[in-house]
Amino acid sequence: MMKAVQPIGIFDSGIGGTSIWKEIHTLLPSEDTLYLSDSKNAPYGNKTKDAIIALAVKNTEYLLERNSKIIVVACNTATTNAIKVLRQNYDVPFIGIEPAIKPAALKTKTNTIGILATKGTLNSELFEKTSSNLSSNPIIIEQIGEGLVDLIENGKIHSDEMNRLLKKYLKPMMNANADHIVLGCTHYPYLKEKIQNIVGASVNIIDSGSAVAIQTKNILSEHNLLISGTRTPINKFLINKNKAVLTKILSDYASRINIEEEDF
Ligand code: DGL
Repeated sequence: MMKAVQPIGIFDSGIGGTSIWKEIHTLLPSEDTLYLSDSKNAPYGNKTKDAIIALAVKNTEYLLERNSKIIVVACNTATTNAIKVLRQNYDVPFIGIEPAIKPAALKTKTNTIGILATKGTLNSELFEKTSSNLSSNPIIIEQIGEGLVDLIENGKIHSDEMNRLLKKYLKPMMNANADHIVLGCTHYPYLKEKIQNIVGASVNIIDSGSAVAIQTKNILSEHNLLISGTRTPINKFLINKNKAVLTKILSDYASRINIEEEDF
């Protein structure tokens, strides 16, 4: 039987899911967390559905062996391709993340929204289902963020190449007068400022991070697995390649976390 003192397990293809970890840690500061950064296998976005499922299973088993009470799939690509299989095969509760096109579709005034995500997410059945079942009928400009995850994983957020790619990918959205841009990859919140500078302040940039944290809290509460009261948590990060980039992206949290390089 699961206990509240067990950690929240979180995984992503790399360091992007730390944008979700930050939301979870802010909302649930007393919870222990265990984060897996599968950077060795990043990006997931160009892999086949079967390959993504195999990696999601590997990460889930690693987190379960380390006692996770819930698994947060902090990766749109892994969620949209693998969460059904994960839920069918493991008893633990799973929280997934999908591009927030529903709220963007409800709020758009120009009836046009842009979405930036990986090929694996945009081509998935789950994304196809969500975007064809919207209550309104907005124009959706889809754009694969080819190369963006690689640059972030290699510590090149502030590079000329990043600026060049972002301008190229955002142009069709701006030309179509999109007033909302959905960030459909957990790496992309790290690009939010750059994207806002390119598209201007009047465009809303939406991600699903805080919704995932709220959902995590709700599901833990439903299962009586929330830590009650205040305590100092253990926040552990495991990465299988390039620890320095993860350390840098989490530098504001350095005193509260522990990062180890490990092969998994
Ligand atoms: N953070 C993953 C996502 O949300 C990145 C996917 C990749 O590795 O390509 O989709």
